[in-house]
Amino acid sequence: TQVLFVTSEIYPFSKTGGLADVLGSLPLAIRDRGIPAAVITPFYGRLRTGNYQLRLVSDDCPVGYPWPSTTAEIYQADYEGVPVYFVSRGEYFDRRYYYNTHAGDYFDNCERFNFFCRAALSWIRRQGEAPKIIHCNDWQSGLVPAYLEFMRRNDPYWRETRTVMTIHNLAFQGRFSSRLFWESGLPHEAWHMDGVEYYGDFSLLKAGIAYSDMITTVSPSYAREILGCDFGCGLEGILSARSYRLRGILNGADYGVWDPRDDKFLPCAYGHEELSGKHRCKQMLLREFCLSDMLEDRPLLGFIGRLRDQKGIDLLIEIMSRIMDMGVGVIVLGEGDLSYEARLLELMEEYPGRLAVQVGYTEDLAHRIQAGADIFLMPSRYEPCGLTQMYALRYGTPPVATAVGGLRDTIVPHPDTRSTGFTFERSEPGQFLEAIQRAVSLFQDQGQWQAMVMRAMQENFTWDKAAEKYLEVYREAGARVQPDPT
Ligand code: ADP
Ligand code: GLC
Repeated sequence: TQVLFVTSEIYPFSKTGGLADVLGSLPLAIRDRGIPAAVITPFYGRLRTGNYQLRLVSDDCPVGYPWPSTTAEIYQADYEGVPVYFVSRGEYFDRRYYYNTHAGDYFDNCERFNFFCRAALSWIRRQGEAPKIIHCNDWQSGLVPAYLEFMRRNDPYWRETRTVMTIHNLAFQGRFSSRLFWESGLPHEAWHMDGVEYYGDFSLLKAGIAYSDMITTVSPSYAREILGCDFGCGLEGILSARSYRLRGILNGADYGVWDPRDDKFLPCAYGHEELSGKHRCKQMLLREFCLSDMLEDRPLLGFIGRLRDQKGIDLLIEIMSRIMDMGVGVIVLGEGDLSYEARLLELMEEYPGRLAVQVGYTEDLAHRIQAGADIFLMPSRYEPCGLTQMYALRYGTPPVATAVGGLRDTIVPHPDTRSTGFTFERSEPGQFLEAIQRAVSLFQDQGQWQAMVMRAMQENFTWDKAAEKYLEVYREAGARVQPDPT
């Protein structure tokens, strides 16, 4: 293996959001460029193994200090030709959720993901040759670059190994009490402002940022935004100091999974050459959710996402009555904050036949909404990349989105002649409403609307392009990755 990805989620085995989608695609795209890649991830209790066979490859992988006598089991699956290793330790990962319940984060998250990072490194160390790149993702794997920094000083095995840290969401930092640092197994010299210390606490993401050879984030705009205090989440200082090592690489979309021409979850297929199937998908969706037939000719607005402040779901709630006044329909799929879930369900009672809300996580419904809705809502306060708007474009569902982060980088806003959607500058209810009004009024002009839909569907955010850029970053990190001759 030349490139080893360390991640807390990978589609189709585990997923809470876009991170999983990225890890389900990028390793394959790297492999497709001739570079052998592998992935290591936790073995959760609710792992979806599907048709993939998992086999035990080690039942005694040592983890080391501070777990001197504890071992991990390692399982392996062959994911489209890329080996995926699963670190198993029941007491840490065999739980209903990955990171938190409705009551809050698991109390032992630091220990759980420290264990994961240590086990991942021990497992790699047992292989004949060290990877050239260890590519870490978000705080859950942030300790890997830190450990490696110190390990490579006295173990020549790691001499050629470089690290890349990808930030998918700066708001989640894995911040813990300093006590946990002293118990972590990292040397004391890591405890300082340019290391793992963050306002007196132990920050796992900061560890990754401080000690990786290169840092990336998932869109060029977000890479700029996080250098300032509005979006830097308190880490703008260290990010600015290391900005010569920071790159923004736009995610791709996996059109193998997200393409209305071939989507196993849709009642019928369609493409930009032949759009009648989209109308059929809409009719079926209206029926499935007992929405009024009158909406067949009126715009149906869809929202899919985590019900969190990040996604601006509160803005949608705030302007719901005004949206309803426009005589349109709305369908919401999401889970997250209990208060948002409850409020949405209340609103559904108020607008029978016009507002549908499904609380929960349902992969297939996400596809049916992308296809059946006319307009996709994404009023995010910040958005590192955002994948759902890319899917919406492909499904001919022009987005209405805040002009931030990856949304800015993927949507060409109306009234540009090449426009594929609508954006608004600040995540404020008034601006959001006004943008929806613009979309709804363009919808009345079916000629212009269809033209926008067609342009949207022809956008192409391939992993191919992104993989090429990651290879450049690997080289900038000092790794000699090269296509395998075999
Ligand atoms: P984020 O990673 O911030 O949640 P992204 O747009 O990058 O946002 O990715 C979200 C992914 O999770 C998409 O694949 C989307 O379809 C999926 N998703 C989010 N919420 C749900 C849900 N409630 N049910 C099904 N899929 C969901
Ligand atoms: C995070 C971000 C999202 C991004 C995803 C994958 O969850 O919130 O914007 O698309 O990671 O990189």
